[in-house]
Amino acid sequence: MTLQSIRYECGELSILDQLLLPHETAYERIGCVEDGWKAIRSMKVRGAPAIAIVGCLSLAVELHKREFPDTPSLSSFIKAQLTHLTTARPTAVNMGKSAAILIKFVDSMVEQNVSHEEIKVIKKIERMLPDDISDNMKLSEHGAKHIMGRIGQDKVTILTHCNTGSLATAGYGTALGVVRFSGEAVLINLNKVSKINITSSPPQEEVYCTETRPYNQGSRLTAYELMHDHVPSTLIADSMVGLVMRTRGISAVVVGADRVTRNGDTANKIGTYQIAVLAQHHGIPFYVAAPITCHDGGRLDGESIVIEERPPHELTCVAGVQLAPKGESGSFGCVVYTPSDMNCWNPAFDVTPNELITGGIITEHGVFTPHQLNDFHDKHDV
Ligand code: MRU
Repeated sequence: MTLQSIRYECGELSILDQLLLPHETAYERIGCVEDGWKAIRSMKVRGAPAIAIVGCLSLAVELHKREFPDTPSLSSFIKAQLTHLTTARPTAVNMGKSAAILIKFVDSMVEQNVSHEEIKVIKKIERMLPDDISDNMKLSEHGAKHIMGRIGQDKVTILTHCNTGSLATAGYGTALGVVRFSGEAVLINLNKVSKINITSSPPQEEVYCTETRPYNQGSRLTAYELMHDHVPSTLIADSMVGLVMRTRGISAVVVGADRVTRNGDTANKIGTYQIAVLAQHHGIPFYVAAPITCHDGGRLDGESIVIEERPPHELTCVAGVQLAPKGESGSFGCVVYTPSDMNCWNPAFDVTPNELITGGIITEHGVFTPHQLNDFHDKHDV
């Protein structure tokens, strides 16, 4: 049984509530755009591709139920809802990009005088689910082949960060998809179909996944997925990455992306940047696995990416337990303090500069160096 974060059929949408994992598996119904917005904002559903798919499907659910008197009312409703959905979480490009594509589609229908009953926006949204899975599978194959070709040995040990698997996508995953595809059975097959020469004992795979503080997507979600799929894996705290790289023979780092800019700078889960610095120090190839839906071809570099800041309690509390000191009121001489908790800064993402992405950027079209991205973005109208 594969993990499914998004269930959708004929206008009915539900999501696996990721706040309850790994202890409880409960699906929550999404009945309208506002439900979708809240599920994204509260991180019941998270991961750049899943955010966009759930956001757009929440609109499809609402369109299934509503009737519109004419084309202008349908068009302005769709635009307003999509614009609203893009405000739920700002850093991942996927929702904004999907909104722009859908708005362009509706505008072109309006220009061609297509009647509102004939504007098949629901169908277009529904395609996002199978398209994401097939892109992820292509990307994963490209990534696994590239890594195996590069290291040229039969044991691959990958380090990954955050959660980029079935839970973060429509299925299969991006960086975790590469991990999946690098698994034993597939590698034996790869050995036959590609020119990679793995002749000795069957290839083995091992994965190190970071805990991914402060929100613990690694320990709560990636560890859950890896155990679910019986992938040999080891959980480490974020602070152990340097030691693991030095002592555990890491072949490659593979992470996902929330936004890849034209020059290859990549926004991803907080902590990615420091892992990339460590990878460079240890001479370990660092890969970003990012389907085109995660690329922001209109942005030159990572400087201007808006980094989402999450509330302090997500840093100070774990599973409802307060770890940092709570503020107390008091006085010092004549100065009276009002109660305030420990001051926190809680950015959810960081930007890894292109020069640290030494392995490449893995897409469904192949693996690119950051410097090849400009041409690639032009060619594919990213
Ligand atoms: O805050 P999150 O959990 O939504 O962050 C997720 C990540 O940073 C992932 O690495 C990224 O979205 C890619 S998911 C395929």
